[in-house]
Amino acid sequence: MESKLFTPVTFGPLTLRNRTIRSAAFESMCPGNAPSDMLLDYHRSVAAGGIGMTTVAYAAVTQSGLSFDRQLWMRPEIIPGLRRLTDAIHAEGAAAGIQLGHCGNMSHKGICGCMPVGASSGFNLYSPTFVRGLRADELPEMARAYGRSVNLAREAGFDSVEIHAGHGYLISQFLSPSTNHRKDEFGGSLQNRMRFMDMVMEEVMKAAGSDMAVLVKMNMRDGFRGGMELDETMQVARRLEQSGAHALVLSGGFVSKAPMYVMRGEMPIRSMTHYMTCWWLKYGVRMVGKWMIPSVPFKEAYFLEDALKFRAALKIPLVYVGGLVSRDKIDEVLDDGFEAVQMARALLNEPGFVNRMRAEENARCNCRHSNYCIARMYSIEMACHQHLKEELPPCLKKEIEKIEAKG
Ligand SMILES: Cc1cc2nc3c(=O)[nH]c(=O)nc-3n(C[C@H](O)[C@H](O)[C@H](O)COP(=O)(O)O)c2cc1C
Ligand code: SF4
Repeated sequence: MESKLFTPVTFGPLTLRNRTIRSAAFESMCPGNAPSDMLLDYHRSVAAGGIGMTTVAYAAVTQSGLSFDRQLWMRPEIIPGLRRLTDAIHAEGAAAGIQLGHCGNMSHKGICGCMPVGASSGFNLYSPTFVRGLRADELPEMARAYGRSVNLAREAGFDSVEIHAGHGYLISQFLSPSTNHRKDEFGGSLQNRMRFMDMVMEEVMKAAGSDMAVLVKMNMRDGFRGGMELDETMQVARRLEQSGAHALVLSGGFVSKAPMYVMRGEMPIRSMTHYMTCWWLKYGVRMVGKWMIPSVPFKEAYFLEDALKFRAALKIPLVYVGGLVSRDKIDEVLDDGFEAVQMARALLNEPGFVNRMRAEENARCNCRHSNYCIARMYSIEMACHQHLKEELPPCLKKEIEKIEAKG
């Protein structure tokens, strides 16, 4: 079969030059919650590397939605900086997307400026912080913040937005029965738990109008007992299809309960704590990190089995993400009926991987899933350990080698 990889693909008003998208992977390159030259250089390198669209990660729609101090916060002051970024991406022939979200309970006061808010009140061990459940009368304004961010994204020159409805962030906290204990019309039945997502999508689609593509990243499974499973997430996907979204990105996992279900493999705890500056967090995570962040085995295209069930049941364009490292597998996924593929680590490891796949039919990237890039991202800018300017301390090298040896 002729490869579809380098053929154009259309999502609503947007046509991409090929079927590859750089998945939203938090760059941690936005000091002051504003874009930097480092962010621009990274996305320019991915665009120059042949990608169809590169997605700037994890922009918060309000200050209360920030979970990191080096994370984008959508507001008018940063539009000129974002415009430079999208101009640079466009100059390399790629489209520019931005992921919009709200972290909900995954924050703390020092970063988001208030007591963290979520679907329900409680304590989140992963931040760690007390959380205030949002009142029903606050939800329409929160939904409007998503719509406003779509308008800001357009002003900044983005071609598309990706609404983050997965991974245990705010929309996902409403969807999942494990984090939504509300007794009002936003809790209980799945219909009720989807109500906040519906409000957000209404504002987003209104703001997107006829010139912005809207993708939604959602969970197929939350990845732990008591979380959402396929029976419910399939209904979420159908609802998003009805909302007018142009494509769904099928993922899974929950940052506060099953973080490695998203990316698979093992979290290098020593590397993670090495960069932390808060001493009690550093030693706390070193002691209990292995227990709080359990490993989930990695295999190539680890979400494919579940994603195929969504492909069979839905008409909406679907984007596959999760464990793609080779041209062979990407061709297989596209032949299975997915409109496009997203990659995070393969492009972190090799920003020019798409161009190499064009030249080599058997191309395979050299990412070996140490997850060092993720461990580092919690404190400083994301980077692959294979391309660092600085020498890593022997204990981190040893940890990475050990994880890579496990495959
Ligand atoms: C360093 C890093 C940061 C990530 N940050 C985000 C994020 O901000 N938003 C998101 O939806 N997913 C995030 N992810 C998950 C990726 O988008 C992707 O779903 C996952 O890594 C699987 O794709 P891969 O196997 O191609 O890396 C991140 C992944 C990595 C490696
Ligand atoms: S740090 Fe490890 S997991 Fe991350 S891109 Fe590099 S090789 Fe892959």
